[in-house]
This record gives sequence, C-alpha cells and structure tokens, in this order.
Amino acid sequence: MLTQAIKGVKDVVPSDSPRWQMLEKAMRELFARYGFSEIRTPIIEHTVLFTRSIGATSDIVEKEMYAFTDRGGDEITLRPEGTAGVVRSFVEHKLYAASPVNKVYYMGPMFRRERPQAGRQRQFHQVGIEALGVSEPSIDIDVLVLLHDIFKTLGIQGVELRINSLGCKDCRPKYREALQAFLMERRDQLCEDCKRRIEANPLRALDCKAAGCKTATVDAPAMEEYLDAGCRTHFAKVREGLDDLGIPYAIDRRMVRGLDYYTRTTFEMVATDKTGAQNAVAAGGRYDGLVEELGGPPTPGIGFAIGMERLILMLPQAEVKQAAPYIFIAAIGDSAVRLGLKLVHDLRQAGIWAERDYAGAGLKSQMKKADRSGAKYVLIIGEDELAQGSAILRNMQTKEQSEVPIDGAASMLINKLCK
Ligand code: HAM
Repeated sequence: MLTQAIKGVKDVVPSDSPRWQMLEKAMRELFARYGFSEIRTPIIEHTVLFTRSIGATSDIVEKEMYAFTDRGGDEITLRPEGTAGVVRSFVEHKLYAASPVNKVYYMGPMFRRERPQAGRQRQFHQVGIEALGVSEPSIDIDVLVLLHDIFKTLGIQGVELRINSLGCKDCRPKYREALQAFLMERRDQLCEDCKRRIEANPLRALDCKAAGCKTATVDAPAMEEYLDAGCRTHFAKVREGLDDLGIPYAIDRRMVRGLDYYTRTTFEMVATDKTGAQNAVAAGGRYDGLVEELGGPPTPGIGFAIGMERLILMLPQAEVKQAAPYIFIAAIGDSAVRLGLKLVHDLRQAGIWAERDYAGAGLKSQMKKADRSGAKYVLIIGEDELAQGSAILRNMQTKEQSEVPIDGAASMLINKLCK
C-alpha cells in the first residue's frame, strides 16, 4: 500500500517528463498562434456544477465522479473534465464584459473512476481549449483546424476527424421523441442500461457497445433528418470551410457524445489502429446553452479536449533527449571541494547548468558520475593541480583535455561555454 500508487493513477517519473514537456511546449506554441490564452481553474468544484453541465444521467455523473462531502459539509467533486470549470470561471469573473470573444486553453489532471486500461486512467490529463462568444460557424472551423494542426505538428498519423451535428434546443426535442418511439418498439432487444436510457437519455443508446443494442439501432432515425434550417446551414458552412482548407474529415451520423451540454457541431479525433479498434484521442463540440444554464448571459461556446496519455502513446517513437548539465566539477580534497562549490555556484548564477559530487567520492567514482550525468565538460580539481593554481578541463565527447588556470576559472568557463 505504502509504496504503490492508487489503481488507475500514474506517476510521470523524471525519465518520462521530457516527452510531456515537449508536448506541453508544442501545444502552448500552437495555442498562441491561434490566439488562445491560458486559464487555470481549480481541480475541485461544487458537485452540482458537473451534474448540471455534464448531465445527471450521463455515465460520468452516474458512475465515474470522485464526489465527496468535505469536512464542512460541502458537496465537492474532483473535476472529471475541464469545460464546466472554465464556463463557471467565465461567468464568475464576467469575462464576457471585458471582451466579446474569449479564447482560452488549459492543461491538467482530470478524474474519472473508470476501469483502467492502456490510455485510460482514473487520474488522466487533458489539454483543451474553449472559445466563447461566437455563434458563427467560422469559429467551429478555426477550432477544428487547430485540432488537425496539433496532430500534424506532432507528426501523429492514423487518426481520423469525425464530425456530426446534434442540432439545437429547438430541433433536438423532436428527434429525441422520434428516437424514443423507435427504441420503445425495440425495448426487448436493448441492454438494461439502454432500457433506462429510453426515458432519460435516449441518444446514448446509439453509442452503446452492447451487441444487441448495436443491432437494434442499426436503422434508427438520424439527427440529420431533424436538423432545422439554421442547424443545417451551420453544419454545411463548417464542412465547406474544412473542404476549402483541405482538412480531411468523415461525417459520423451516430456520434452522440457522452456529455449532455453539446449542441450543433460535435467531433472526435479517432485513432484507427491495426486491429480496427477505435479510440477517441480528442473530442469536443459546441455548447451554446451551457453558459446560460450556469447562470451567465446567453453565450455560445465551442471547444475540445485531448487526452494527453493517449496522445503520448501515439507520438512517433523518436528519442526525446534527456537534458544534461554542461559541466561537472570533480574536486578532490577539502580545499578543492570548497573551490568547486564556489565554481558551481558562479556558473549557475551565470545561467549555466553545473553539477558536482555531493558525496566526497574518489576521482574515479566522480568521473563515472560525470559520465552518467551526460555533462559535456568535466573540470577536474585535484590537490596537485590546486597547488599549481590550475585544473584540468576535459571534453567528455572528444576526450580532449587541457590545463586551465583556476584563477578566473569561472569566467573562463562561462566564456567558453557561452560561445
Ligand atoms: P471527453 O470526450 O469526455 O470530452 O474527453 C476528451 C478526451 O479525454 C477523450 O477523447 C480522451 O482522449 C480523454 N479521456 C477521457 N477519459 C479518459 C480517461 N479515463 N483516461 C484517459 N483519457 C481520457 C470532454 O472532456 C469535454 N470537456 C471536451 C470538450 C471541451 N468539449 C467542449 N470543450
């Protein structure tokens, strides 16, 4: 227990972190290019925020949330996703008053109590964006192009962008009714979950993995036939924009998404692996009613989130280089060690990564440590060298050695290394 992390939760150990940092850096650069600024919202929120936004009958709220009553009696939940917190923050800080359009991004841990497997954890990380304040399809296009650009920039292949429209608060109820009637007729073929869903959340039946449900819903009515004129035009404009820019996509009429806040454009970036199994690496869509639902002024919104663990699994296997110090100071004997301490300090102050041995080991052992650290240079200060006022500088790649004066060694090294 003491030496094992909780099931479904993973450490990012130092040898993994260059990959994460590379991803985060690439994302930040891309987001800046598309005009998105960072927002950081808390990991804990009031439980009601998620039940209201994601939906009380969604799988996340029904089965997966880490929800608890805190010591003061408040109902708290570890965030299972980022959109609800961003919208809460948007309303709380009246971000709409400062600017008619708000484009934000976030990255950080999310929590869902799911069955862990490769790329599915209980604490996982999302990087996501939300664009609030634009109802026109032009922003849908920007958001989808950005998503495409992320995968292109990272060199990830074998993904497919799938899009759909879920209609709006005017046209979806009619579709919902038609689907409910269709499902009622086939109730006996549905799994227990979907039987319950007929009343509460019939669209989810289209997403059910149970074989019986899949067969029973093969010719279910499609949302497309029920889209009103506004939603139809909106979806056509989104597709037109993607076509104009040559962004590949497929239309997936059965995509319903597991969160209740979606309206109109919804999408997933799906990994199609060799076995044919499919997995959403990223997903998102419009949520034109959510800001109002959470007490803000009517404001349209659209965004997506990418699962970072899934993204990392898909990164091309190129070596991500571990960072290494520029110089390792190997010092033997008390006076040399004291001088070494001063040199390391001066170099660090000058912005150079310098390391030394902490254990007072012998020269052989210090050279081994220097080699293992990957340092480019080692400065060897032995007692004899010190007596002569000099030290030995060794280039660890070429193995060349030269004698350097100790006096002013730091500034010489700084000059040499900064060249
Ligand atoms: P979501 O589809 O629930 O959407 O999650 C988005 C992505 O998070 C998934 O495609 C997947 O890559 C990753 N993910 C979800 N659960 C796990 C898990 N247990 N382990 C590892 N990765 C996971 C949302 O969360 C929405 N908030 C997206 C959004 C933003 N819509 C509008 N704006």
